[in-house]
Amino acid sequence: MSRKTVIAGNWKMNKTPDEAAALINEMKPAADKAACDVVLCVPYVDLPAAVEAAKGSKISIGAENVHWEESGAFTGEISAPMLNALGVQYAIVGHSERRQYFGETNETVNKRTAAALAHGLTVLLCVGETLEEREKGITFDVIAIQLKVALAGISAEAFKNVIIAYEPVWAIGTGKTATAEQANEVNKFIRDTVAALYGKEAAEETTVQYGGSMNAKNAAELLAKPDVDGGLIGGASLKPADFAVILEAA
Ligand code: G3H
Repeated sequence: MSRKTVIAGNWKMNKTPDEAAALINEMKPAADKAACDVVLCVPYVDLPAAVEAAKGSKISIGAENVHWEESGAFTGEISAPMLNALGVQYAIVGHSERRQYFGETNETVNKRTAAALAHGLTVLLCVGETLEEREKGITFDVIAIQLKVALAGISAEAFKNVIIAYEPVWAIGTGKTATAEQANEVNKFIRDTVAALYGKEAAEETTVQYGGSMNAKNAAELLAKPDVDGGLIGGASLKPADFAVILEAA
C-alpha cells in the first residue's frame, strides 16, 4: 500500500457558519476532481454547517483542536466525542499558533493526540521549528523531541491514523515559504524518526505534509518532492481558485 497524498485546509479563526457552507459549496467541484484526499479544518462553530455542506462530496471535515478529556470542567474546550457526534473525522493537534499563543506543550499535544485517536479521529499532528531554532542549527533536535513526546505511548496500530504536518513557524502566514529542498529535507527527517519509532514500513506509509505559505504558485514544486505528501494550507485554503490549483497539483 502506498501512502496517501492529503491536502488539508486550516481556516483558523475565519468564516461564520453560513460563510463556511458557501465556501465549501464553491470548493466541491475542484475537490471532487482531485486525485488526493481533501480535508477542511474549520472553527468549532462552523463544524455542523461544514459537515452538512460537504456531504456527498470528497471533502472531509476536521476540527482545529481537541481536548483530551471526554467531558468536564474545561471551559472553552471541545472533546473528541463531541466531534464524533457531529461527524467530524479529523483534528489538527499541536499547531504552532496553539503552542505560541495558548500554552500548548509537547505533553498536552501528546494527550490530545492519544484522545483523538482513541475516539477514531485522524490526527493532523503539527511540528516545526522557529526561526531562532533554525538559525541555531537545532531544527532536527526540536522536531525529534516534538515527535517523540507527541507520540509517546501511541501504539503502531493507532499511529496509522496520524498524518504529520511539518510547519516551520517562520513560514506560517509570512509569505516566506521553505524552499522545496528545505521542506523535503525536514520531511525526510520526520520519516526517518517515524521509522525509528514504528519501523520502516510504517514510515513509508505515513503521510507527511508541508505547511507554511503554500499557495497556488509554489504548491507544484513543493508537492513534487518525494517526501512531501500533501499540504496543510492556511491562507490559500480560504481562496477557492487558489485552493483548486493546489488540489490539481497534488
Ligand atoms: O495550518 C496552516 C499553516 O499554519 C499555514 O498557514 O498557509 O497561511 O502560511 P499559511
